[in-house]
Amino acid sequence: MSEDLSVRGLVHDLNNVFQTIQDAADVLEEDERWSALAGTIHRSTEHGLRLLRSVIEATRGSFELRRIAEIAVQFARDFLRAGNGPDIAFRIQIEEGLRISSNAAAWERILVNLLLNAAQAMPRGGAVELTARRTDNGIEVTVADNGPGIPEQILPKLFDPHVSTKRGQRGAGLHGLGLHIVRTMVEADGGTVSARNRPEGGAEFVILNTDDQG
Ligand SMILES: Nc1ncnc2c1ncn2[C@@H]1O[C@H](COP(=O)(O)OP(=O)(O)OP(=O)(O)O)[C@@H](O)[C@H]1O
Ligand SMILES: [Mg+2]
Repeated sequence: MSEDLSVRGLVHDLNNVFQTIQDAADVLEEDERWSALAGTIHRSTEHGLRLLRSVIEATRGSFELRRIAEIAVQFARDFLRAGNGPDIAFRIQIEEGLRISSNAAAWERILVNLLLNAAQAMPRGGAVELTARRTDNGIEVTVADNGPGIPEQILPKLFDPHVSTKRGQRGAGLHGLGLHIVRTMVEADGGTVSARNRPEGGAEFVILNTDDQG
């Protein structure tokens, strides 16, 4: 099988896996004791299917950034609730009518990684703010939290693969990839991403994109 076909084949087979999970969730949904959980499963598999399909077919077009942000926040909430995660107050502040003209699935992945990082840095709970505004030549998207901030010793290589303070958690071997994925996707879109610890406490990630004119 050629490489392209083997990727396509994997997407095809995983599509069947997601479809099975969706069908099982449909059954759960009929029982009101499980309908909320069924909603979580449906949203998460739809999110998974969009990311999966984006591997073989970029979701290009013009998208309302608020909608993508809401999907990303909902996924982060579902992820935390399903795993008994901390109580995090997510707040979205997006300038009216802001649109992106690039890969929507990539933006979903970027935002989810940043939101989950912020939540995972605050095991006793906290607040995360996702803001987006027009700049003179594009858009600026910020994810800020009120957690402990990024450990100083990893700041210089934060976006490199396998840089992580996670230990012995689920998915070992895959950790330390989130921010590398973020940087790769932001740069593929002609943007930049940077991180800093705010003087008032907490971490802040800023994405600047000049391709998207909002
Ligand atoms: N908002 C944040 N506050 C504090 N530390 C952070 C924050 N975001 C990232 N970090 C630090 O940066 C490290 C690297 O983040 P990255 O997302 O690349 O990997 P990870 O979260 O450890 O693993 P995963 O691949 O599952 O995302 C984290 O382990 C954490 O130490
Ligand atoms: Mg991460």
